[in-house]
Amino acid sequence: MNVVQQAAPFLESIDEEVLKGLSGRSMLLTDDWSAEEIETVCNVAATFELLDRQGVPTHLLTNELHYALFFDNSTRTKSSWAGAAARLGAHPMVVDGSSTQVAHGETAEETGAMLGMNSHALGVRHDLILGEGNKFMRAVKAGIDGYLRDGHESRSVPIVNLQCDIDHPTQTLADLSWLRERFPDGLAGKTMAVSWAYSPSYAKPLSVPQGLIMLMTRFGMKVRLAHPEGYDLMPECMESAKKHAAESGGSFTVAKSMDEAFAGADIVYPKSWGPYDLMLERVEANRRKDSEGMKDIERRALERNRAHTGWICDERRMKLTNRGTALYMHCLPADIGAEVSPGILEQSRFSLAREANKKVYAIMALLAVAKVAALRQKLHGLAATA
Ligand code: CP
Repeated sequence: MNVVQQAAPFLESIDEEVLKGLSGRSMLLTDDWSAEEIETVCNVAATFELLDRQGVPTHLLTNELHYALFFDNSTRTKSSWAGAAARLGAHPMVVDGSSTQVAHGETAEETGAMLGMNSHALGVRHDLILGEGNKFMRAVKAGIDGYLRDGHESRSVPIVNLQCDIDHPTQTLADLSWLRERFPDGLAGKTMAVSWAYSPSYAKPLSVPQGLIMLMTRFGMKVRLAHPEGYDLMPECMESAKKHAAESGGSFTVAKSMDEAFAGADIVYPKSWGPYDLMLERVEANRRKDSEGMKDIERRALERNRAHTGWICDERRMKLTNRGTALYMHCLPADIGAEVSPGILEQSRFSLAREANKKVYAIMALLAVAKVAALRQKLHGLAATA
């Protein structure tokens, strides 16, 4: 089969009207996008992956600056942002947010105006404090849009959420792409366990489990959430998951234990996150710039986690899943020996790497649908050159 034939199922599934509606769009929450729009992104991402694996250059956004601000550590997302820009023919720039004037109190709107002036797309990670990250991104977007409007500039500078307090869209879109590949007959009816798991390393953000329950419920999946008492997720994300499950014909349930969530599951996604009340306490401590208070909250979160060391994805639990062969997923990095046993991690090493690799194509797709006119025709043309 040639590349045009391989790309055909993805390109033929792209609706021109849906694509048109994505022009200039930012990805701040997957919940802001319709299921059709998300499927369009997945189809564009799959085409980019196919072209990339065939060595076809995809320089659709040449002479652009793709700037990213990170207010937290990252390995995968930073390199995916840079990798996406390079593959699109743009120049990537990844900057530590704490090294910008935001640290000296420059407002998000002003930062947005300045970065939008100089760049053509902006990625932001701001995930540590509940109630702040997504709000920051929206204020940055208002700053960019205000600047462009004032100058009567027709160009758009889309923002891509590279993880906030609510959602991690490029991760969950990568996860969705991986699931679509692994389950080519469809995701409807598949059972996915999103479970808390023990971590001794740090109180991890809530955005990955929240993003997963909000996104995977849109495709008819049976999503089960499990966590120890006190590790709740944000109520609005729970409500969104319930609503999507009802609309898609899937389900969203909360299991009492990790075993219950894993029983008969087709996919398991066990990972840690911080205790909800302490994550809320962190908001006030951060506002007061109380660094000792923040350290004390982190110490108490890890102490709380230690009461739940039994929440591990291990060989016994994997045997509870559908035929004992559920797909193990993790956004990485995983705490080996705590969130997951060394054996399960080792068995899944390449599967996890392939899951992670989907992020570069998800970012390319988000930028391309927002910025490239006649994208479907251009992708078809690129496939024909292979
Ligand atoms: N999964 C993920 O977002 O990884 P990084 O924190 O390394 O970017």
